Amino acid sequence: MHRSAPHPVMAPVLAPVMALALLLPAGCASLPEGGSRQAKIDEAAVMERSAAVAQSFQGKLQAQLVAALQEGGPVQAIGVCKDAAPQIAAAESAASGAQVSRVAERNRNPAGGLTEEMRPYYARLAEAPLVDGRPATALWRSGTGAAERINVLRAIPMQDKPCSTCHGTNLSPDVAELLHALYPADRATGFAPGELRGAMLVSWPVKMFE
Ligand code: HEC
Repeated sequence: MHRSAPHPVMAPVLAPVMALALLLPAGCASLPEGGSRQAKIDEAAVMERSAAVAQSFQGKLQAQLVAALQEGGPVQAIGVCKDAAPQIAAAESAASGAQVSRVAERNRNPAGGLTEEMRPYYARLAEAPLVDGRPATALWRSGTGAAERINVLRAIPMQDKPCSTCHGTNLSPDVAELLHALYPADRATGFAPGELRGAMLVSWPVKMFE
């Protein structure tokens, strides 16, 4: 008989609770115990899919790079690298659902610098770019709620051939000139084999693994 009548006590009790919820940062309101905020996800699956995406990117780019070097030499290959790398990254991103890019502390492409967030992970890769003969990796989560991401960095070690032609210590004058013209702020020369040249960044929405 009285069921549909509004409960007189409800409004005054709820109002302060809701006001408090609004003051808390998003994502923390319903989680009093802090550290347990992150849902568990299968990190091995993330690593496996990230490695597949990174290898696909690198395989395609390397094939175009080597073909261009053989056909037209390094000056032609620089142009191929400049156009192909962003295109392959965009295609791999669309196909996988991840954001795929290359980053470096000493970068050539000005869009490929490090963010503050990735710096400690990159530094760890730089200490040992290869682990048991395989590229070192680092994984971390960032963001909150629907924007939460899981990120994987995968080392790209410097090799002598073919990398030294365009990233080494002794560039030919025509290569150096073209690189300077295309990338006036180029920092990606002077590398020795075995050093960390850069890293693949594969960044997924966490919800893809929940
Ligand atoms: C023919 C010249 C050439 C060769 C050879 C070459 N690169 Fe590059 N590399 C470039 C250019 C040009 C860019 C910038 C591409 C862009 O604009 O996105 C680049 C960018 C990169 C980047 C992205 C980060 C940055 O500095 O912008 C990495 C990592 C990289 N190269 C690694 C390598 C490795 C490893 C090798 C050997 C397997 C190699 N490169 C061989 C020309 C070359």
